[in-house]
Amino acid sequence: MSSIITYNDLHKLSLFVEHNMALHFPEKRWNDLERNIKKAANEFGYSDITDFIDNITASPLSQVDAEILASHLTINETFFWREPKTFEALERVIIPELLKRKKYSKKSIRIWSAGCSGGEEPYSIAIALKRFVPDIKNWDIEILATDISPLMLKKAESGVYGKWSFRGTPSWLKQSYFSEVSPNKFKINTDIKKMVSFDFLNLADNKYPSLINNTNAIDIIYCRNVLMYFNQERFKKVVKGFY
Ligand SMILES: C[S@@+](CC[C@H](N)C(=O)[O-])C[C@H]1O[C@@H](n2cnc3c(N)ncnc32)[C@H](O)[C@@H]1O
Repeated sequence: MSSIITYNDLHKLSLFVEHNMALHFPEKRWNDLERNIKKAANEFGYSDITDFIDNITASPLSQVDAEILASHLTINETFFWREPKTFEALERVIIPELLKRKKYSKKSIRIWSAGCSGGEEPYSIAIALKRFVPDIKNWDIEILATDISPLMLKKAESGVYGKWSFRGTPSWLKQSYFSEVSPNKFKINTDIKKMVSFDFLNLADNKYPSLINNTNAIDIIYCRNVLMYFNQERFKKVVKGFY
């Protein structure tokens, strides 16, 4: 049984994941690709890596296959209140402007976290809104959080986090919006949890904005630390889709 991946197979595979999932693996990242695709082959039940690569690249990816591959090939690095300057901008500029603009229209705010990983980003946004929107009870707030990785979406939906998710996070956030459910496991408060809904969305494949996946009429899109793994062409296509 073969466990060695040839140059040609790595080339074929990198083109395939780039085309189908927008995951960009230039040659300098082929070590990562090789290590992680072996784990994926295992999960798909293959012992021969060449057979696996031949089969997976032979036809378009089903959503289930894309989900399994994504759980092995994506980088899910994230934490609460990452890049605090973006939250300062939300407080000082974006929210006041949005509230002003919507003064005479429907009191609703729709936010999309595209590439939400384990949920730390959309829950941080929900916390920010809770803090910064003065009469929040009068507003209909929806935060849609999507990702290509089902494992991350499952974690996000559980709303339970370890200490690692709070590295570099101001201490008030954990103290005010979480309760410790077991040693070093922290559960997000229900009122914040209810503000966010999670769904699978492949930025390389699914159509947006669209009523079908609820990405229509969005006021603010967060897509942070996602597009740097895409190639230039795909990057531009995704950003164009946001407008
Ligand atoms: C590094 S994390 C960033 C998480 C969060 N936005 C942040 O800044 O902390 C990148 C996320 O993008 C997701 N991702 C990568 N390719 C994607 C694609 N084609 N469609 C949707 N999500 C994707 C990964 O699964 C991962 O959870």
